Amino acid sequence: MGFPSVRPRRLRKNENIRRLVRETELSVNDFIYPLFIEEGENIKIEIPSMPGIYRYSLDRIDEELEQVVDLGIPAVLLFGIPKHKDAVGSETWNDEGIIQRTIRYIKERCPDLYVITDVCFCEYTEHGHCGVLHDHEVANDPTLENTKKQVVSHARAGADMVAPSGMMDGVVKAIREALDQAGYTDIPIMSYSAKYASAYYGPFRDAAESSPAFGDRRSYQMDPANRREALKEVQLDVEEGADIIMVKPALAYLDIISDLRENFNLPVAAYNVSGEYSMVKAAGKLGWIDEEKVMMETLTSIKRAGADIIITYHAKEAAKILKTG
Ligand code: PBG
Ligand code: ZN
Repeated sequence: MGFPSVRPRRLRKNENIRRLVRETELSVNDFIYPLFIEEGENIKIEIPSMPGIYRYSLDRIDEELEQVVDLGIPAVLLFGIPKHKDAVGSETWNDEGIIQRTIRYIKERCPDLYVITDVCFCEYTEHGHCGVLHDHEVANDPTLENTKKQVVSHARAGADMVAPSGMMDGVVKAIREALDQAGYTDIPIMSYSAKYASAYYGPFRDAAESSPAFGDRRSYQMDPANRREALKEVQLDVEEGADIIMVKPALAYLDIISDLRENFNLPVAAYNVSGEYSMVKAAGKLGWIDEEKVMMETLTSIKRAGADIIITYHAKEAAKILKTG
């Protein structure tokens, strides 16, 4: 009886001892910053539901690139908003398309900035679905054929890595074969392996004009209720040659991040998605939370759960804080 002999509070007494025993440390090295590039001139439009995040035309992108490079953020993830959409998203494999031109521009201006492309079709199709439609359903295998053309075009433009986000079956194998056959054996694939049909993508779809014109994405993206299925999806991607596996969204799926960390020996990425960003911004604006602290705590939790890489709209703000304290 009596007093406790083990007292965990001993190691929390002041900041220096807390620093010594801290298990998780965020770093700018963890971050990928998403960029929205719109076809056209002189465009810099703030996305209403994502304060601080803009759609840029290529001629205005310098200011963004400068900040990213100055802050030491290693990589950007590119999303294109094309002028012309069609039934199949053929602009995605146009060598003069918005993403291809953006890749070439960035590689010329900032050759060391690592350029990753989101590989999908929803921003490029009139119907807003992530592939070719057959009878109002996304047809898997025809979509794979178009995906191959898209990634080879991205590679030709100079992309460092490709990130398929459409949740088509067999997409990693299809991409690996297409890249290898075209001679791009050294371009890695970051697969959106466990991507859930989430309501947290709402603000992104406004930003990228990629909402489905009818129906939803539940016939290809995963059911939020499923945990074991994520292991199956990742297992397939690993067998097909994925280099990095991803969980998306991040916060409502920390258990999935932790599962992947424990079960696979590949780098795990987590996508801290638009709706997660918007909620922090909205509550911060209202003065209901300390926005900076909530942001850093959130990012730390994603890393603590097991993510090696965090794709986040907070990247610049968080990098600033990590730099200056
Ligand atoms: C395209 C894509 C989406 C996101 C990334 N790639 C939207 C979707 O699947 O509807 C979401 C990103 C975000 O919400 O921040 N398939
Ligand atoms: Zn899509």
